[in-house]
Amino acid sequence: MSIGNTTRPKIANFAPMDYERFFSADVPSFLRSPVREIFRKVDLQAICSFAGGYPAAVTFPTDQVPGLAAAVLEKYGTRALQYGATQGVPELRAAIAARYGVPVSQVQITTSSQQGIDVCSRVFLDPGDIVLAQSPVYLGALQSFRAYRARVEEVALCSPTSGHPRPDKREGPAAEGCGRGRSEAEAVGEHNATSSIKFIYVIPDFNNPTGKTLTLEERKEIVRLARELDILIVEDSPYRELRYSGEPLPTIRELAPERTLHLGSFSKIFAPGFRLGWIIGPEPLLEQIYVCKQCLDLCPPVLDQYMACEFLTSGALDANLVNTIAEYKRRRDLMLGLLEKYMPAGTSWTHPDGGLFLWVTLPESIDTVALYDEALAAGVAYVAGSFFYPDDSHRNTMRLNFSFIEESKMEPGIKLLATVLAKALTNK
Ligand SMILES: Cc1ncc(COP(=O)(O)O)c(C=O)c1O
Repeated sequence: MSIGNTTRPKIANFAPMDYERFFSADVPSFLRSPVREIFRKVDLQAICSFAGGYPAAVTFPTDQVPGLAAAVLEKYGTRALQYGATQGVPELRAAIAARYGVPVSQVQITTSSQQGIDVCSRVFLDPGDIVLAQSPVYLGALQSFRAYRARVEEVALCSPTSGHPRPDKREGPAAEGCGRGRSEAEAVGEHNATSSIKFIYVIPDFNNPTGKTLTLEERKEIVRLARELDILIVEDSPYRELRYSGEPLPTIRELAPERTLHLGSFSKIFAPGFRLGWIIGPEPLLEQIYVCKQCLDLCPPVLDQYMACEFLTSGALDANLVNTIAEYKRRRDLMLGLLEKYMPAGTSWTHPDGGLFLWVTLPESIDTVALYDEALAAGVAYVAGSFFYPDDSHRNTMRLNFSFIEESKMEPGIKLLATVLAKALTNK
């Protein structure tokens, strides 16, 4: 190939090699997201999809973005296009600190909250370690925990004041009822004597996938358990500001600031394309996260941070949030009404006070994984609930997203889904 010649090398023209031997010992633990597989295989625009977790594009402040970019370039000049501090640009850290009433030293900006989960996993987890989590678990978190070869063990919350058995910090027999449930390790018979529990992973507000919110007593119970075991809490909180009904409760970080890493995100309150989030936590923990992040991405995207900062400090974020909340409340209410109208008997679902999802439980005889192709052929998509369980259980459940689908497709979609389910039930 000569310079100036338009001839390009043929990419596929090489002898095949055995690539398997190059992969690290971590690679077999990587978990492929079934949700992203759905996106790859199906044109979700062509069907009625309740599968993804995308925000509605109408909530993005699209018309304000050019003005934000211009204002940032005017204010910060080339600084906005330069590498920035690994902790995040000082202006955005200060804006987050002011919004949540914490010192700037307790704020680390992340390249989205998925990175927050991953960086916490990387900094705290050794192979064989245990993460306590409420099942079902957000898939992206399961992917990170698995990637570092940690295991997820269920933490079951009980009545607020019961003095139920508590697990030991080291591996021991699973507690009956509350506290620790059955672990992946126990499920596959692989105990590791040196395993230790490092943190509880929890989504207290409008959980993905269930849409549920923890009560104050449940929050306190998480804190009691973490203090008893002397472990950390990773509080994943990308939906907290999307509340459509009910009263806000204290964050877990507010209840246990000494041991909580609170993960926030701009994805659902600005736009996910900016890939920006933050971690609020104790300085000594953030210090290690800071070092770890140096090798991940050197710094979060600088122009994006300045734009997010401008959006936040000008008051535009809060103004936009009012519209976003009104939009999603309407969609949630629409979906709840349609489920009521069309779903077959024996089906129940959660009534979320916020967030983007609700969770449907079907009669035991239905297997939503087995039914999935039929639903797709009928023109409707969902995410099978078992994908959110480390042991692939609860096959009679599904997650439905109400934020992304066009409103005009909501009723036809729920009708289709109800028809597929009713048919499956009569065939049993
Ligand atoms: C519970 C939860 N945590 C984290 C994320 C990651 O969001 P992001 O990386 O866009 O901030 C998501 C995305 O849907 C989520 O549902």
